Amino acid sequence: MANEIDTVAYDVVDRIAWVRFNRPDKRNAMSPTLNRAMMEVLDDLEFRDDVGVLVLTGEGAAWTAGMDLKEYFRETESEGIKGVRKSQRESYGWWRRLRWYQKPTIAMVNGWCFGGGYGPLFACDLAFAADEAKFGLSEINWGILPGGGATKVAVELLPFRKAMYHALTGEPIDGRTAADWGLVNESLPLAALKGRVTEVAKVLLDKNPVALKATKDAVRRVGVMTYDEAEDYLVRAQEAANSFDNDGRKEGIRQFIDAKSYRPGLGAYDRHRQTR
Ligand code: COA
Repeated sequence: MANEIDTVAYDVVDRIAWVRFNRPDKRNAMSPTLNRAMMEVLDDLEFRDDVGVLVLTGEGAAWTAGMDLKEYFRETESEGIKGVRKSQRESYGWWRRLRWYQKPTIAMVNGWCFGGGYGPLFACDLAFAADEAKFGLSEINWGILPGGGATKVAVELLPFRKAMYHALTGEPIDGRTAADWGLVNESLPLAALKGRVTEVAKVLLDKNPVALKATKDAVRRVGVMTYDEAEDYLVRAQEAANSFDNDGRKEGIRQFIDAKSYRPGLGAYDRHRQTR
C-alpha cells in the first residue's frame, strides 16, 4: 500500500523501497515542504529490515523540475537570510543523507530533471533514465548560476568541456545523451525503465549488505585522496566492515574454496546458506 507524507509517496515491495517525488502538477519541484517530507521518509526507511534498496523516482511527467522557484526561492528570500539558510539546510540535508545512505540507492529518472534535481541525482549511487527524460542545468536560463551543488555534480560526472557547455547554455539533453555523457548509467525506453531498475535492484539485494555500504562509501570517498591515503582508508574500512560482519566474508570464501558452489568472478555467494 502506498504511503504519503505531503509531497512524497512511497511503498516497499519485495525489499525495494520505491520513493516518489509527488507533486506532479508542479512537475515535482522541490519545495521546502517536499524537502522536509523527503527527510522524514528517508529516516523512516533507512534502517528497516524489510528494505534492501531504495529507488527514487517521480510521479507523472517529471523526476523533479528542480527547486521550486516560488516556494523555495521567492518565498524564503522574502523571509531574509534566516529563511534562505533554513531552506538550504533542509534541501542539502536530505541530499547529503542520501549520498551516505545505509542502503544502496538508484535514481529512476522518468522525466524532467533540472537544476537542483542534480543534487539527488548525484546522491543516488546508480542512475537509470528514460530515453524520453530531459536533463538540464536550466539556472542560466533564469539568471543564476547552478548552485546547491549542481555545478559540482556536473564537474564530478562530466568531462570539463561538456560540463561547461551544459552549464553555460542551459540546453537540455535527453536520457540517451545523459547516458552517453556519463550523467546516468543507462538510458532505455520509459516502458522498460522500471523493469530494468527492478532487475538491478535485485542484483544488489543478493549482495552482502555490510559490503555494499562499505563499497559505496569507499567509491565516494577515495576520489579526493592520494593513492596512499586511499590504500590506508580502504584497509581501515574493510577492518571496520569485518567487525560488523566477520562471518559473511568467511562464508563467501568457504562457498568458493571448499563447497565450490559459486564463482565470485561471476556472481554473489548465497548469503542464506551456511556450509560450515
Ligand atoms: N518551480 C516552481 N514551479 C514549477 C517549477 C519549478 N521549478 N517547475 C514547474 N513548475 C510549475 C509551473 O509553474 C506550473 O504551475 P501552474 O500549473 O500553477 O502554472 C506547473 O508546474 C506546470 O509547469 P509547466 O511549465 O506548465 O509544465 P510543462 O510540462 O509545460 O514544462 C518544465 C515542464 C519542467 C519544462 C517547466 O515547468 C520548467 O521549465 N520548469 C522549471 C525548470 C527549472 O528551471 N528548474 C530549475 C530550478 S533550480
